[in-house]
Amino acid sequence: MIPQSFIDDLLYRLDITDVVGRYVQLKAAGANLQGLCPFHNEKSPSFTVSPSKQFYHCFGCGAHGNAVGFVMEHLGMTFPEAVESLAGNLGIDVPHEKGMDVPAEVRSEREELVELLTRAANYYKAQLKKSPLAIDYLKNRGLTGQVAARYGMGYAPDTYQNLETVVDNYASNTQLDLAGLTKMSDSNRRYDAFRGRIMFPIRNAKGQVIGFGGRVLGDEKPKYLNSPETPVFSKGHEVYGLFEARQAIHKMGYALVTEGYMDVVALAQWGFENAVATLGTAVTPDHVLKLFKQTDRLVFAFDGDGAGQKAAWRALLACLPHVSENKRADFIFLPAEHDPDSFIRTEGPDGFEAMVAQAASLSEYLTRYLERNYPLQQIEGSAAAISFLKPLIVQMQPTVYRSSLLRALANLLGATPMELSRHLGLKSREGGGDYFSPKNKGQFQGKKFGKYKDEPLQNNWGPRPTAKSPLLSLAARVIRAPQLVNLCDSLLALYEREEKPALEVHSFVHLLEKVRNDPNLLEARLQHAFNDETHQNWVNSVLKEARSLDDSLDFETELRSGVYQCSELWFKDELERLTEAMPTQGEQLRWYHECMQRFQELKQKRVNQL
Ligand code: GTP
Ligand code: MN
Repeated sequence: MIPQSFIDDLLYRLDITDVVGRYVQLKAAGANLQGLCPFHNEKSPSFTVSPSKQFYHCFGCGAHGNAVGFVMEHLGMTFPEAVESLAGNLGIDVPHEKGMDVPAEVRSEREELVELLTRAANYYKAQLKKSPLAIDYLKNRGLTGQVAARYGMGYAPDTYQNLETVVDNYASNTQLDLAGLTKMSDSNRRYDAFRGRIMFPIRNAKGQVIGFGGRVLGDEKPKYLNSPETPVFSKGHEVYGLFEARQAIHKMGYALVTEGYMDVVALAQWGFENAVATLGTAVTPDHVLKLFKQTDRLVFAFDGDGAGQKAAWRALLACLPHVSENKRADFIFLPAEHDPDSFIRTEGPDGFEAMVAQAASLSEYLTRYLERNYPLQQIEGSAAAISFLKPLIVQMQPTVYRSSLLRALANLLGATPMELSRHLGLKSREGGGDYFSPKNKGQFQGKKFGKYKDEPLQNNWGPRPTAKSPLLSLAARVIRAPQLVNLCDSLLALYEREEKPALEVHSFVHLLEKVRNDPNLLEARLQHAFNDETHQNWVNSVLKEARSLDDSLDFETELRSGVYQCSELWFKDELERLTEAMPTQGEQLRWYHECMQRFQELKQKRVNQL
């Protein structure tokens, strides 16, 4: 659980107008702000944001909530995700649920470990100043004292009990082992884990030292030594340099993700202070999430060699669950002989900037990868590529970005987006978006509906496969133009005369009642509106038909002619019935004549319209 106090504080610090304003164009309207509602399709603004109440409200569809609610609804996030995302924008960390119920003794143990690690870091820093050997090494690698200080770099002398000087009870201090700073020898003697190494302290989001990376000065093995997993340090989660890079990331608008400590430090030295690195592990979705909390754009810059290429691909995979139209990932491919550190030292910051500028987007990288690895011109190649893609794409959230990516991939693979998403086993309609889905509405506003559909529009491509009942067609048009529902009144009056209306008429009357009661979010509401399966099936067919109608239709004319047609049919049936009953006098005869007359009129109207 996220503590309520944190949420209260977050809402206090946030301004809902900023949050909503990122997604909806808002204009001042008195004390409030107004815009087009992102949750339903509308032409004139009925969506209001109140800065004083810190609420949004839509008078059209009733959508209502605070900043967290807006992010949840608009981005399809869960509550904790929305809180994380909003807190991330402000650069604050959400208290971890574990932290909540961590017993006091565990908490104080962590504090104790952090304190030991901090003391060690200070010690190593002081030792660097005293070691000409280490200073020379860093100088030879092109680093200045300033950048070394920025990252708190240090040096662990090549002796076994350096840390004796930072604690009183080195020999008996088991906490040192727990912090990963020392080990026990076979003869039960405590000794330093880091010896003869350049030390890179790893800091958490609060800036506390939680671990170290240490590099040898020469060619000894292992080249790097990292802190082990400890109660305060977990490699798969932490990102080296993030604490130091935060401000620059915000200023530059992206984070530069590398593989190495040295890459981070060298890039910072040359002006790319937004560089971070994973800690000798492949990029994980956790890393990506952590970084996306800081920024909307990640640029991965890995070594140009084969291992670097593999790492880049792993990074792409790790990004899939988190990329969207608002969170992008780009990839720099360095020449094979370079890593970011060596590249920027030979090509300079301008050379590196050029690489950033021409970085491949995730979709470009993916496309290129498929083109290189599969003979897409052949059926076998594209089929293999599709089955390769399946486990990748299913990890993605059903965002507009995924839809766009699917369209591009479908194009590459010679399939329609619809076919591709079917092969990939995706449930939601892709390659476009669901006209009725409230989440997608904003995206399709003002655009021609038909253009974004995955199926070709049947009305533009010859006859429909099956003749639809006129009543079903009419109902579909009402769904698309619910504000015109009153045009059906005369028809409803006719149906009201029936004692035992046909099933379809029954469904139609009910459907219209629902539309009249609330014309908003019809698809969502009508999908489970009826207990009766026959009714519901009919309504579902109506909804399906409604989706397939082109936006450019003149719905008023469509509705009127539908009403004429259905009325005409009604009168035809009624006349047949009356003829059978053979009225000869009184009210029945009068009605027979009226039906005759209206039937003729309707026929005429319909002919005139055609
Ligand atoms: P330099 O050789 O100093 O330029 O470092 P580098 O960052 O270019 O090294 P490399 O590309 O070989 O490795 C990238 C990262 O992998 C390093 O920053 C370490 O985090 C990790 N790494 C490299 N070698 C080792 C190793 O021997 N052991 C461990 N545990 N990690 C390593
Ligand atoms: Mn290197």
